[in-house]
Amino acid sequence: MAIKYIPYFKDTIDGQAILDNFIRTKRILKYADNDKVKEKIERGLPLYETEVTEIVGDVSDNLVIRGECLSACAYLKEKDIKVDLVYIDPPFASGADYAKKVYIRRNPKKATALKEAKRILEDEELQSFEEKMYGDIWNKEAYLNWMYENLMAIKSVMSEKASIYVHLDHHIGHYVKILLDEIFGENNFRNEIVWCYTGGTDNKTSFGKKHDTIFFYTKTDEYTFNGDFEPFSEGTLKRFNKQDENGRYKENKLANGKIYKTYMKEEGKLVPDYWMFPIVNRTYEEHVDYATQKPEALLERIIKASSNKNNIVADFFGGSGVTAKVSNDLERKFIHVDVGVNSIETTRDRLLSANASFKILDIKDSVNLFRNPVQTMEKLKKLIPGLVSEDDLDEFWEGVINDSDLGKIPVYVPNLMDSSTKLLDITMINKIVNQEIIKLDDEIKKVIIYYIDRIDKKEIDSFIKENLKMDIEIELRDLKEVLSETINNDEVEYHLDSNKICIDTFISDRLIRKIKEYNEKMKLQSLNNGKKHHLIKISTNGLELIEMISLDCTSSDGVWHSDEEIKIDELGYVIKKGEKTDEFWDGTISFNKKPLRIKIRNISGDESITIINSQNK
Ligand SMILES: C[S@@+](CC[C@H](N)C(=O)[O-])C[C@H]1O[C@@H](n2cnc3c(N)ncnc32)[C@H](O)[C@@H]1O
Repeated sequence: MAIKYIPYFKDTIDGQAILDNFIRTKRILKYADNDKVKEKIERGLPLYETEVTEIVGDVSDNLVIRGECLSACAYLKEKDIKVDLVYIDPPFASGADYAKKVYIRRNPKKATALKEAKRILEDEELQSFEEKMYGDIWNKEAYLNWMYENLMAIKSVMSEKASIYVHLDHHIGHYVKILLDEIFGENNFRNEIVWCYTGGTDNKTSFGKKHDTIFFYTKTDEYTFNGDFEPFSEGTLKRFNKQDENGRYKENKLANGKIYKTYMKEEGKLVPDYWMFPIVNRTYEEHVDYATQKPEALLERIIKASSNKNNIVADFFGGSGVTAKVSNDLERKFIHVDVGVNSIETTRDRLLSANASFKILDIKDSVNLFRNPVQTMEKLKKLIPGLVSEDDLDEFWEGVINDSDLGKIPVYVPNLMDSSTKLLDITMINKIVNQEIIKLDDEIKKVIIYYIDRIDKKEIDSFIKENLKMDIEIELRDLKEVLSETINNDEVEYHLDSNKICIDTFISDRLIRKIKEYNEKMKLQSLNNGKKHHLIKISTNGLELIEMISLDCTSSDGVWHSDEEIKIDELGYVIKKGEKTDEFWDGTISFNKKPLRIKIRNISGDESITIINSQNK
């Protein structure tokens, strides 16, 4: 539950659009009281409790925040932290689910593994399966309402001289441009930057879609701008073939016969608003295997142009951490925000390799129950006892539970990917009571409403009492309880050998289950298409399921200090404290100082912490 709500802006801005100014929102928000949407913005940004989970390097102001953009903005606002430059590359409403390939590591206990690791393995030889990272499947109107709130929140933490770059594409960019005009003002629109890239296209019915669009706005007309210059072309240089005390110039003969001189700028010409940078693929050193990873060169140009050293650069949809990494390289401070655990881990490891110092903060907003919102949603649906799909119901309901006494009980589950459904407030209960329940068949006697976060129960109950005109029971259930009961930590067995911890076994029920599901799917595919599909085999000691081991030799509880750390890459080689080595992992981790806790990250990114028992010899 949010601790409190923080206003988006201190004072209402003259001419500021409020959500229900938009005709489109009137269309989507059909339920009884349209003003409630406006209320949501007026209620303010939800501020949640936070927890520092890890400190990397020296004490610094840099932040890596696990949480939603809205709640991160509330945190920054509460702490009075203003940012000088924002780059965001939010989901594009592309209609896609983004997945990551998860590679099974080589098992260090297999005799042949060492030899095998010495040669370069082809991609197909690696055993892998896929994990969903985030979903980008939106209804356009819901997306725009969500985007509006996020942009309002971001604006409220931007310093007066700040700039914002919003990276989108053809799916939704044109609509968001209108929102940006509303929020930042048409006068503060600076550029529509077109990022062009190459690559094939299967499309035969229209031209290849090979660019993204980045809208550049500033908060006011006083802002930092150090645009990049590029050298003049050879042709231009040839034309500027004369020189005097003012520099090189070319002569133009005007219509009246006069000679006019055009001088050349020493620094070259300001780069135009179309940029060519290649997409980061697996062949690039900077590739970190995060879907939709953007090139460092793109961010370098933006950060250099619109910030100065020591300015704060924020990315509220940070993904692979490219903005934080480049900001750190360019001696800016950074704030990386993302709702998914994979993003936080990828960014942490990337920044560690870049020798950055930062704090990792977890926002207790209940959105991150299991890795990321997409995977949490998938898991939740499977975990609600008795829940089955029901075609006859409106899509608002997730399904029904069949009860021997009450018959069909429709069940509503909020969508973690759409923060507007997260909170059971008067707006939501109004929609349920006045719009959804009245559409149900007469024989329905009860509905179940799951919530993630809710306002005071008394307020909800009294609203239901006053407004529900049908004889139907509404049961409210906390969704968090469903999941917290079922997530088991991974288990590790180890022994100490002088200055080493030797891992004997690693058991991850959640991964074993996932791999079983994958194998079942492959068997079915083989039956259907007659092709042989490789099944994933895991050894009994399970060591090939480990991606990272970290030892905390400083404290046995609270904030994590990674005093010793190894990461195992896809081929089984060790990365020590961010530095690649040519050593193959031997199943151990060394230490100089007695370790108090061990943290193991499995290949899907779940981390489990175990207290070290020094008797364990
Ligand atoms: C297109 S990706 C960003 C990629 C990033 N620019 C890069 O170069 O790696 C969008 C990211 O937004 C995150 N995300 C989605 N909804 C969010 C929200 N409400 N708050 C914060 N992050 C969110 C996703 O987890 C995903 O990592």
